[in-house]
Amino acid sequence: MRLIFLGAPGAGKGTQAARLARRLRVPHISTGDMLRETVREDTPLARDLRSHLDSGRLVPDDKMNEAVRARLKKPDTDEGFILDGYPRTAAQAQALQENLSEKGRKLDAVLYFNLRQDVAVERLSGRRTCRNCTANYHVKFNPPEKEGVCGRCGGELFQRDDDVHAVIKKRFEEYRQKTVSLVDFYRNAGLLKEIDAAPAPDEIYSRLLTALGHVE
Ligand code: AP5
Repeated sequence: MRLIFLGAPGAGKGTQAARLARRLRVPHISTGDMLRETVREDTPLARDLRSHLDSGRLVPDDKMNEAVRARLKKPDTDEGFILDGYPRTAAQAQALQENLSEKGRKLDAVLYFNLRQDVAVERLSGRRTCRNCTANYHVKFNPPEKEGVCGRCGGELFQRDDDVHAVIKKRFEEYRQKTVSLVDFYRNAGLLKEIDAAPAPDEIYSRLLTALGHVE
């Protein structure tokens, strides 16, 4: 299956994408994770990208389109993929469409995670991420067994630099200005499946499977 996960920051896209990708045996392609991996390096490109991430601004379309095009050339995407956090602008949606049709591929669905902003902000403020395997926790909703330590791989948990109040505000501004219009774009294309992202993770996962015609 070729899927897009769309939604505001903190809506739970990454949490669900990781789980569904394991079930469908397709790669979970998170452009946020790709960028965070790149900015670990000490190069002019990494410094430029880091300035976007740390301020909550979107990375320019040409850079994102190039990175995703390269990723979708890898053979592990032949049987499908979950794109998490891409596309995020009309230009990215257009580039993806061109890229897929060149290969004779089509999207199966766009899952839109709908969540109130105040709930999403609470999720972001308490998120902790594993430095090693990128697993997500939450200090209140999904705390690790041992504080500061990833239960899956033993890695160190940290708070993302963009999960602080001022940057979260900017990320929502960017979402409203540049991304939210994609909801109607994909609805009009007949691809949108809307998911209420407020319930607990297991309930959302179950609704996700139903929406995609799978049984648990
Ligand atoms: P990115 O990493 O994609 O951030 P985002 O879209 O803001 O999404 P998040 O990762 O913050 O949230 P999520 O929806 O995945 O929620 P999660 O599952 O983690 O992008 C970061 C930056 O990179 C962007 O700001 C931009 O600069 C750049 N970028 C990335 N892609 C780009 C693109 N295409 N174009 C341009 N720039 C791009 O959950 C959040 C928390 O809630 C966790 O703690 C989790 O444990 C908890 N939680 C999850 N589900 C539930 C639940 N049901 N109930 C309670 N808690 C829950």
